[in-house]
Amino acid sequence: MRTVSAAETAPTTYAWAVEAAGLHVKAGRHLAVDGLDLRLGTGVHALLGPNGAGKTTLMRALATVIKPAGGTLTLLGEAVDGRADLRRVRRGLGYLPQQFGFYPRFTVREFVEYMAWLKEMPKAEIPGAVQRAVDRVGLAAKANARMKTLSGGMLRRAGIAQAIVNDPAVLLLDEPTVGLDPEQRLDFRELLRDVGVDSCVLVSTHLVEDVVAACTDVVVMNEGRLVFDGPVDQMIEQGGEGDAGDSAAERGYSALVRRHRKATR
Ligand SMILES: Nc1ncnc2c1ncn2[C@@H]1O[C@H](COP(=O)(O)OP(=O)(O)O)[C@@H](O)[C@H]1O
Ligand SMILES: [Mg+2]
Repeated sequence: MRTVSAAETAPTTYAWAVEAAGLHVKAGRHLAVDGLDLRLGTGVHALLGPNGAGKTTLMRALATVIKPAGGTLTLLGEAVDGRADLRRVRRGLGYLPQQFGFYPRFTVREFVEYMAWLKEMPKAEIPGAVQRAVDRVGLAAKANARMKTLSGGMLRRAGIAQAIVNDPAVLLLDEPTVGLDPEQRLDFRELLRDVGVDSCVLVSTHLVEDVVAACTDVVVMNEGRLVFDGPVDQMIEQGGEGDAGDSAAERGYSALVRRHRKATR
């Protein structure tokens, strides 16, 4: 039996899980997100863009790790500004950073439990939720292994487990497939589709095939700006013979970025 989390029983009073208008976010002194308009609801949304496009900075703002420098950001109906109830928002968030920290001597179970506690999950729910999260990422056999003994792919899966432990309404995954082998990637796609049925999932990746297999729509960024926001099929239609890429989806993505670069120069 699955326990129902508080987030599921709370009334939903917002139209979009994530709503950004004219969003500006700085990375250091650099304006890495430069006036972004974005609305995301239930589903699996891919976030694509060249290195340096601002994907990680956007994710960090959505995870409430950094404050926007301008524009408006509304998460789960709460406007993220000086007066926001960030604790309430964070209870409904799951975030896997591109690079995440952990105590090396913690076991996988302790790591996920600790993150559940930080997200203020009710104490009685934590052991069951941790077990479910660890099972879902295929790490049950390693639940009592110390974090420092895990391979790259196992670490990434432990990171995914902590992100989903609270059944988040908004799940943010920054390059989660790095280090996963092909079989683990197939399992991960299934997990994404499963979580995306009733949550808003934003997943950044360089692997366009993962997008085609697991995502309902695509957000493409370049140099801090929104280039494209639409269904995967529509991205595919953008590509032609001369575009770079091994698949129609890669060619569609390349065409979008190429045209955006040309238009902004
Ligand atoms: N701490 C920082 N100080 C200055 N510039 C930064 C910092 N972090 C990132 N940047 C710059 O911000 C831009 C966006 O970076 P990032 O959000 O990491 O992009 P992506 O995840 O799409 O590769 C890049 O040009 C990067 O060099
Ligand atoms: Mg990044």
